[in-house]
Parts: sequence; C-alpha cells; structure tokens
Amino acid sequence: MRIKVGVIFGGESVEHEISIISAIQAMNKMDEEKYEIIPIYITKDREWYTGEMLKDIDVYQDLDLIKRYGVNVVLYYKNGSYVLQKKNGLFKRVIKELDIAFPIVHGTNVEDGVLQGYLQTIGIPFVGANVYGSVAGQDKAMMKDIWKGIDLPMTKYVWFYDVDYRQDKEEVMKKVHTLKFPVIIKPATTGSSVGISVCDNDETLLEGLDEAFQYDSKVVVEEVVENLKEVNIAVMGNYEHQKVSEIEEVLSTNKFLTYQDKYIGGGKSKIKGGVKVEGKSKGMASTNRKLPADLDDKTRKEIETVATKAFKALGSAGNSRIDFLIDEKTNKVYINEINSIPGSLAFYLWEAKGLDFTKVLDEMINIGIKDFKKRISKTHSFETNILSGYAASGGVKGAKGTKGKLK
Ligand SMILES: Nc1ncnc2c1ncn2[C@@H]1O[C@H](COP(=O)(O)OP(=O)(O)O)[C@@H](O)[C@H]1O
Ligand SMILES: [Mg+2]
Repeated sequence: MRIKVGVIFGGESVEHEISIISAIQAMNKMDEEKYEIIPIYITKDREWYTGEMLKDIDVYQDLDLIKRYGVNVVLYYKNGSYVLQKKNGLFKRVIKELDIAFPIVHGTNVEDGVLQGYLQTIGIPFVGANVYGSVAGQDKAMMKDIWKGIDLPMTKYVWFYDVDYRQDKEEVMKKVHTLKFPVIIKPATTGSSVGISVCDNDETLLEGLDEAFQYDSKVVVEEVVENLKEVNIAVMGNYEHQKVSEIEEVLSTNKFLTYQDKYIGGGKSKIKGGVKVEGKSKGMASTNRKLPADLDDKTRKEIETVATKAFKALGSAGNSRIDFLIDEKTNKVYINEINSIPGSLAFYLWEAKGLDFTKVLDEMINIGIKDFKKRISKTHSFETNILSGYAASGGVKGAKGTKGKLK
C-alpha cells in the first residue's frame, strides 16, 4: 500500500506563485511507487482544492478552470482518519483519505506556523518544522534573539514595534544609533525582500522605517555587511540529527537580492495579481548561482557548523535553507536567516552533493513520520475532574483540591 501524501501549497501569501512552482517541481519528483500524491491547492482567497489536474502548471493560468474542474474540499479529522471532504453539494463525499500532509508553502500565513498549527490541531502527521520551529523561522527578530542566545555570528541588530516608534521616536532612534551606518531595515516577518531598504543617514532611516511599518508591526534594523558575498546551505533533519548540503553562492546584479533575482532570474516576466505563472519563472532553482561556492576549508566548515547549530536552536525540521552573509575583505561570516521551507526545497543544493530530489523528498517524509511518532509518544493530556466541579451557576467550587492525574 502506498503512503498517501497530501501536498499542500499556495495560500494567502506574497509567495503564492513560488509555492505553486516548488510544489509542482516536488510532485514531479516524488517516488510514485512508494507514495500516492494528492495535490491540495489553497487559493489566495483560502479555498482548498484537490484533483489530478493540479499537478499541471498550466492550470494556474486560469483560476476559473480550477474552480470548475477541481474539487473544493476541507481537510479534517473524521472517524479516525484524516480526510479531504467535498465542501459543497448534497452529499459531502469524502474524496480522499490522507496519511501525511506535506506543506510546500512559502511566506506568511502558511510557512510561519499558521498552517502547521491547523495540521497539528487536526492531528495529521506532517512534513517539516512544527509550529514552534516554523514561527521562529519566519520572524527575523525572534530567530536572531534565539541565535544570539547561543552566540552565533550575526550583524549587530535592534528591533522594535510600530507602537514604540509612534510613541517615542527618539528612543527608537537612540536604539538604532547604537549601530553603525549604513543599516538595513527589514519588516520582521514578510520575507522576499518586501519592504527592505538600506539607509546611511537619519533622513533615509525615517523613510525606510515608515515603509517597513507598512508591511509589519515589527521591524528589524541591522548593520550592513560590506563587500558582500551571499552563500546558502541547506540543513536536513530535526532537533536530534542534522546533515548539511553543498553551499551555493548567490549572484545578484542589485545591491541586495530582490524578488526578481530570487525567483525570476534574468527574465523580465512579472508575477502580479491573479495566479499567473509565466514561462520564465522556475522558482528558486532559476537564481544565478555558483555551486559549489568558492570557499576555503575553514569558512566552509564554519558555515556548516553554524548552520547546524542554528537549525537545531530554532527546533527546525525537514529541510531548511540557511543564508549567510560574508564580508569578502575581512572574511567574516554572518548568519542572516533561515527559510524553513525554501524555494524549490533547495533540491539543487542536495543534488550537488549527490542526493537527488526524489531521495530528498523521501527523507523529508521519513523525518515527518518519525517526528509524528515522537510527538504522540509524549504526554499531552492531563486528566482532571476540574470541569465536573463547575456548578450550574458557573462557580468554580470544585476546582479547589482537584487532583490532577497524568494519563
Ligand atoms: N546585513 C546585511 N548586509 C547587507 N546586505 C543584506 C543584509 N541583510 C540582508 N541583506 C540583503 O538583503 C536581502 C534580503 O534580506 P533577507 O534578510 O534575506 O530578507 P528576505 O526574508 O526578504 O529574504 C539579502 O538576500 C541580502 O542581499
Ligand atoms: Mg533572504
């Protein structure tokens, strides 16, 4: 019997289209002898669809086609199974049962713990980081604070909320002035270079902060790494075991990597509105890169070690990509961010190390199954008679002296 894998992608995120590309790349490479692949596409307006047609990139040019020929479903727990059930119609038929969910989603509302929380609430096993790892992997302030706690090499940074900025601009400026200009401003949770700007004086700093606060209520400001070389590495595993991929150098024509650089490469195609996925977009696999990156052994080793520690500290799982900034003059290495579910699942970084995409997907699913078993082996419920103590009048008399008992 094949394992039924529900590949979930899309969702209400600026990286919606990139997720479609990543998911289709993965579905094409999954071992069909071992796995039955069930595509589950979440539209931008949060409707869930399934159907074989969703394995074909061309259908995403026309959302009406999906609405007409796909099956609108809900994923939930029913009679001991995880099912995709038809949402509309007289008979709310179960379309498919699933064994495991495989989120291939990017960005806020999906990669950041939101979707993982839903999956965990239902109880279905799933691939990748759990809620906590996913949240910490999306919020740049949170990940940096965690990494600072274990002394990983990072650029100096500060972070604050919009409310701090509104109420006491001077205090916020004072905080930023503990850094050396030029600085880079980033909304804490958006990703994809949205709302990012580089500033080298107070005037542009204020403009940059106004801009960043349009995207997020939390903003990170950090020192710019000069003579920049950007390198990425993938880490696969969970908090117990980790292994590292080959390291790539990402090449860009701009001062910092833009959405265009990341996903569209040299092509001019624009992804805007709708669900348009134009010919030139190949997801993260299309970025200009040098693979393997040109690095001396010491730097390579340092990146591998820091990446492994970073992955473990956040409680990440599955297959994440960790991005580094190197000052080529001083040869100093700084960890920049983690991408819990990287574009194209960073398959090219594993391929360069002799592990093909099919094997990567297989390993990711295995880790998901193991993590699920581990999760259910821990005690999560605590049996008490606290509710029986509630009087009809709403009192809490019985709460006192309640005896808790571990299941
Ligand atoms: N401290 C920094 N110094 C120099 N360039 C930076 C720094 N931080 C980010 N960048 C540039 O900005 C890009 C986007 O920043 P990043 O933190 O990766 O956010 P995103 O989540 O949008 O990818 C990076 O790929 C890099 O080119
Ligand atoms: Mg980045």
